[in-house]
Amino acid sequence: MTSPAESSAPTTTRYPSRPEPGPAPRPRPGRTGVTAPSGPAETGEIEVDAYLADVRPAAPHPYAAERARHTVRDTQQPPWQDHPALGPVKDRLAASVPLVTSEEVRELRGALAAVARGRATVLQAGDCAESLYECTPAHARQRADTLDRLGDHLQRGSGRTVVRIGRMAGQFAKPRSRPTERVGGLELPAFRGHLVNSEAPTEDARRADPYRMLQARLAAATVGGVLREARAARAARPGTAAHTGPWTSHEALVLDYETPLVRTDPSTGGRLLTSTHFPWVGERTRQPGSPNVALLADIDNPVGCKIGPGTTPDEVLQLCQTLDPERTPGRLTLIVRMGRTRISEALPPIVATVRRAGHPVVWLCDPMHGNTTTAGDGRKTRYLADLIAEAAAFRSVLERQGQHPGGVHLEVAAGEVTECVGGPIHSEDQLGHRYTTLCDPRLNPEQAERFLNTWA
Ligand code: PEP
Ligand code: CO
Repeated sequence: MTSPAESSAPTTTRYPSRPEPGPAPRPRPGRTGVTAPSGPAETGEIEVDAYLADVRPAAPHPYAAERARHTVRDTQQPPWQDHPALGPVKDRLAASVPLVTSEEVRELRGALAAVARGRATVLQAGDCAESLYECTPAHARQRADTLDRLGDHLQRGSGRTVVRIGRMAGQFAKPRSRPTERVGGLELPAFRGHLVNSEAPTEDARRADPYRMLQARLAAATVGGVLREARAARAARPGTAAHTGPWTSHEALVLDYETPLVRTDPSTGGRLLTSTHFPWVGERTRQPGSPNVALLADIDNPVGCKIGPGTTPDEVLQLCQTLDPERTPGRLTLIVRMGRTRISEALPPIVATVRRAGHPVVWLCDPMHGNTTTAGDGRKTRYLADLIAEAAAFRSVLERQGQHPGGVHLEVAAGEVTECVGGPIHSEDQLGHRYTTLCDPRLNPEQAERFLNTWA
């Protein structure tokens, strides 16, 4: 027998009690005219006075109405709308120091414009889901070094300048195909990335917790600070092209996190998403008119959009019109992730449509997300040979239409993981040795080098 109170329990969610957050810190008066500050090395924070001079909280967001219209669709937003901490956490985020500056974002747009014109190549790489446990400066340096080494490798092989962009300093949220998943014998809420919940297989750990957005922002500041140091170190190396990074990027998925981090730059009147240099919209939320697309349309950062095998040329055209209305080189990157078997048929009409419409996009190949399979033991894996085949098809489609294959988007771990088959991992039997990803299977650095050899 259940009591009336128990039987009504499923309609309301109970949350563990937490200390009330204190009032948001009061802004200090800013100096005017300071634009591109560099922060203390260990935190990546931008000096507060300089920030206040550079970027201020923006007016209400014009996509609020679109967002309301989308409530019936699966928007991939965390199920935390009734959590009492959501409002206070968003207020804290809105009062927080930006993680990037408008100057940095302009530099990256310039670098991507060179890629759009065929003069440079992009390497965008990192974890599928960053882990909050691997965001110390030491972890971040290891991940930044891996990106740098792979960038150098590609640059040597291709003879082109390589713009390096990490799936780093904010890649904490994951879209899921189902709201729940089976772990052991339990049906649990799906893991949605450390921005939202924990991967531990208990009901409690899987509860969506808005406080995690504050932890994630702090971790992103630490990792972003390490990347800022790495950019300065690269820029000081003789013979290094300007603005080649490493820059930060992540999927702009969780609107409760991204929205409070949009600011207006009073020096230009422009709007800046201050959570990252380069946000992209994922395959599951990239419908023309979705709130995530509207968020990216509203900001001046360079933006990316994933293009899966079911995307129609007309949809891509609408996305180009929304995200690149001025036809600006460097503004929009289309990240193609169709899968080895679908790309040769699905990509040509899309490239033709974009070319005819005159959008000078950067074309990136993501050979990972259309080539995921299930190994004999039930783990997700990917075969290096499939990635190489998709990348070869991508290049040939673009080159046949006189377009520049702008570069690659990879999921790569900094350590010697055993998550994909190929190169040093001869068979699925070896996958169990070091399979540590929080989400999708990543290449290890040697597998990534082998992939880049075939790209160059
Ligand atoms: C990802 O990049 O990890 C991802 C989920 O990609 P997509 O949106 O292309 O499926
Ligand atoms: Co992934």
